[in-house]
Amino acid sequence: MNATVEVHLDRRAWRDHLAAVTAAGLQDDPPWTPPVWFYDQVGSALFDRITRLPEYYPTRCERSILEARADRIAELTGAETLAELGSGTSEKTLLLLDALVAAGTLRRVAPFDVSEEVLRDAVTTIGERHPGVAVHAVVGDFHEHLGHLPTDGRCLLAFLGSTIGNLTPAERRVFLSGVRDVLGEGDRFLLGTDLVKDRGRLVAAYDDPEGVTAEFNLNALRVMRRELGAEIDTERWRHRAVFDEDHQRIEMHLVATAATSVRIEQLGVDRAFAAGEWIRTEISAKFRFEGVHAELERAGLDVVESWTDDDGDFLLTLAQPRGTSAS
Ligand code: AVJ
Repeated sequence: MNATVEVHLDRRAWRDHLAAVTAAGLQDDPPWTPPVWFYDQVGSALFDRITRLPEYYPTRCERSILEARADRIAELTGAETLAELGSGTSEKTLLLLDALVAAGTLRRVAPFDVSEEVLRDAVTTIGERHPGVAVHAVVGDFHEHLGHLPTDGRCLLAFLGSTIGNLTPAERRVFLSGVRDVLGEGDRFLLGTDLVKDRGRLVAAYDDPEGVTAEFNLNALRVMRRELGAEIDTERWRHRAVFDEDHQRIEMHLVATAATSVRIEQLGVDRAFAAGEWIRTEISAKFRFEGVHAELERAGLDVVESWTDDDGDFLLTLAQPRGTSAS
């Protein structure tokens, strides 16, 4: 097996960066924390359970699009390299991977993630499934290290799961321009986005009756306690999901159930919360077809084709850097 893991994140510097962002967020109005604290081992397992909840439709919808279109995507891209922002071993990525292997073009997979551990697992999983495909994993932050992705040969860069919804419109603009900049002629970008729909279904997807999402949200407090030495009484918070019409996004909140505080002595954070006050722990933007296309075009990415699932709940869009022509 031919595999490398290239590390561009210094663990200490990354930790310090996340700590500084979190401290600033907690002192902002309204207070917020970055979604990175969801994904320790416990949180990643909870997220995996979320993706199988009846209420959480995005994963199933995106998978059904990929089941229907992976061969078409392989044909349109002729990709030699499949790069993915995120672990690259989700069932959905494997559908793409299998289709590109079957088409006979794929030579290399390049998963990109902030976690070296996650990428080491990806190397093993991909290596077992397709021993003939090289794995070139890159540990980095996609705000900074996209330039380290190996994009020689025709490259398909995938960003699935509507993870782009965690970014604000301004952040998406910067991110998409960054994507445009690393893609050359013959390269393609595949983007998954969750679509605006009935408020009831949106909220239910982020506030399931089993309470798995609540557990996922509350787990972030335990992670911050452990990783940042934060003093937080986890018994005094509850989960809430709201749909913000103005911003077209779901927000996950942690609401104080009684007077409490969040203190991180080392970072100079000491914030009091009255009962009912809250912290925003995640934004998850919901998109419209035209909006996705406009954001891509604005970044210099021309839409090649896009597809939804049968119910029109989720959108997958293939784009190419402007100024380059399709095969
Ligand atoms: C992984 C960011 C796409 O926003 O739907 C799921 C995370 N949060 N349930 C999403 C999440 C609560 C998920 N993303």
